[in-house]
Amino acid sequence: MANGNPIGVFDSGVGGLAVVAELRKLMPDEDVLYYADHAHFPYGSKDPETVRRYALEVAGELVRRGAKLIVVACNTASSVALGALRATYPVPFVGIVPAVKPAALTSPGRCVGVLATEATFRTQVYADLVAQFAQGVRLVQQPCPDVVAAVEAGEINADGLTERMRAYLTPMLAQGVDTLVLGCTHYSFVRSQIEQIVGPGVTVIDASLPVARQSQRVLTEQGAGKGDGVPGKVTYLTSGSMDDLRHVLARLYPDTLRDGLTEGSTVR
Ligand code: DGL
Repeated sequence: MANGNPIGVFDSGVGGLAVVAELRKLMPDEDVLYYADHAHFPYGSKDPETVRRYALEVAGELVRRGAKLIVVACNTASSVALGALRATYPVPFVGIVPAVKPAALTSPGRCVGVLATEATFRTQVYADLVAQFAQGVRLVQQPCPDVVAAVEAGEINADGLTERMRAYLTPMLAQGVDTLVLGCTHYSFVRSQIEQIVGPGVTVIDASLPVARQSQRVLTEQGAGKGDGVPGKVTYLTSGSMDDLRHVLARLYPDTLRDGLTEGSTVR
């Protein structure tokens, strides 16, 4: 049975829009309700209970607004809250976690770099991923909170950001990293700078597309696609300032995605 309700997507801020971009390519007729939890940004420096509480609040709002599927487009929130979200709300959830598995399976020199938040690195979910899939693989882990903050400010081309990323990545390269996991959705926005720094010898892995594909599979299995061929729209919600969100969208997407922006509102 076709279902015209929106797909809910959330993150602490705009990082999850990297997943929205893939969802829109795969399922252009689906409506998306995107919630940026700006009042509580960043998640990556907070303790798990706090992030879990925020994720439950945000998902509750998306459920109230009719989301038929919720994509937790944040590695930190997925790592700490996916179980609680699934136990609380009667809608399907798709989460994103650092792509340690495909990286460990394909790293030629069995040396994988992981960029993720402090909070993600501390979770049991991450420890389990490593124990299950990265035995015998050397992992070099690096949080980059200032890069998250720069993306959140829309400053992806700012002078100095490339140098800051180089400072994180050069020691990782020196340790032999040949495969690099973007384990925080904000990093997808600086993927091209990262690729330039690490060069063609390093494979960069971003889970945004696999997560969008999984979302499509879930909707197909449930027969819950919109399926009318009418182009979908993206509606933005924020727990912070709508003006700030508009400003950052204009900087991140000078001429795309914003055409799907139909309305925005601030959630209190
Ligand atoms: N984008 C988020 C993630 O994927 C977290 C950024 C933050 O709030 O620290 O982990």
